[in-house]
Amino acid sequence: MTNPPQPPANAFWGGRFAAGPAAVMEEINASIGFDQRLWRQDISGSLAHAAMLARCGIITAQDEADIAQGLAAIAAEIESGRFPFARALEDIHFNIEARLTERIGEAGKRLHTGRSRNDQVATDFRLWVRDAIDGLDAQLADLMRALAGRAAQHAADPMPGFTHLQAAQPVTFGHHLLAYVEMLARDRGRLADGRRRLNESPLGAAALAGTSFPIDRAMTAAALGFDRPAANSLDAVSDRDFALEFLAAAAISAMHLSRLAEEMVIWCAAPFRFIALSDAFTTGSSIMPQKRNPDAAELVRAKTGRVTGALVGLLTVMKGLPLAYAKDMQEDKEGVFDAAEAWALSLAAMAGMVRDMRPDTARMRAAAGAGFATATDLADWLVRALALPFRTAHHVTGRLVARAEAKGVDLAGLTLDEMQAEEPRITQAVFGVLTVDASVASRTSFGGTAPANVAAAAQSWLERLA
Ligand code: ARG
Repeated sequence: MTNPPQPPANAFWGGRFAAGPAAVMEEINASIGFDQRLWRQDISGSLAHAAMLARCGIITAQDEADIAQGLAAIAAEIESGRFPFARALEDIHFNIEARLTERIGEAGKRLHTGRSRNDQVATDFRLWVRDAIDGLDAQLADLMRALAGRAAQHAADPMPGFTHLQAAQPVTFGHHLLAYVEMLARDRGRLADGRRRLNESPLGAAALAGTSFPIDRAMTAAALGFDRPAANSLDAVSDRDFALEFLAAAAISAMHLSRLAEEMVIWCAAPFRFIALSDAFTTGSSIMPQKRNPDAAELVRAKTGRVTGALVGLLTVMKGLPLAYAKDMQEDKEGVFDAAEAWALSLAAMAGMVRDMRPDTARMRAAAGAGFATATDLADWLVRALALPFRTAHHVTGRLVARAEAKGVDLAGLTLDEMQAEEPRITQAVFGVLTVDASVASRTSFGGTAPANVAAAAQSWLERLA
């Protein structure tokens, strides 16, 4: 019996391994299919590392120059789609290093002095997440600008405010939109916090224990825009909480976007029709000619699932890992890439829809007055004008609502006589607080829905975001 032909031994650790991996081993082990996205970060990290090695006298200036020139050529190859990515070379780090040695010879083999793929991947991934944070932060700011702009336009347009999705009290459409501006501002805060903690350099932690070469970790940290080198080499190669914080921020923000998306779906629906979206953000039905479906909003709502899934996925990958690096951690990337893409797409779609939507302010105003939405204003008037205790005023108002309901009118449709049948001291002045406009105008407390408040808040956001 003859053995099947063995694949050749690995170029990087072939010293100990006589034979190559089984085909399925290569398949499960390789990450090049997804970690090619890290190529820019990998090249930046290698350039910083090589410059430091030369400065510290660990490699020659000539080696460094060859490495820098070789990496520039490789960057051009990747950029133009001519780079020969090979699955047998496992990941982006080996692919680039192998190609470097192919191009420049011996000097390429010196690049990996005093580092490991463990600190290399931790560095590359941090740099990638940091770039993603900066891009997403700009997108969040753009969506906030879009919302604040619409809020300024509609600072005085009433709509029903809901609790339990039951008409509760009138608010203005601008006030409602600014609620999301506040949420998105906190989303940006979470990204900024995470970025601060992320911004320490793992490079030079090597495999896990540091290195015996006289490297300068502060130099590579500074070259890569990190605030400082990470203080513990074990932590540096095994921590992925920067990715988890990013995913947690993504999940919370996607949840916010999903709530707004859900509201847009409701607002577009026939019984509401508070807003309309143009052809640019809707689709038709192949069978029902009247349909205009808010698909983009529905998809923003749905993308939340994969973003939350990525967070739970990575938490699950990490929870049982002993220090330091384990190959499990290679599974940290795809969820982050996917979540970042879904988040970015959702932000872009939402900004587009916010700018596109046409509110039907007349319908919103009419709906704002329905469902006895000014009952609280009536109760408050009884407290103010007649000095009733609030609880008593609440009961009187409840009886007036029941009367109006029986008569089939709203509160302003009751006569003064009918009002006085419940509370004899009520005067004609009560009718002044029962309109939707009076109701919103009266809510002047800090953070309240009075149009003047809303206009000022929208203006202040627009200035801060300019
Ligand atoms: N492709 C690997 C990853 O993404 C790189 C680090 C591999 N390190 C190792 N010791 N096998 O995690």
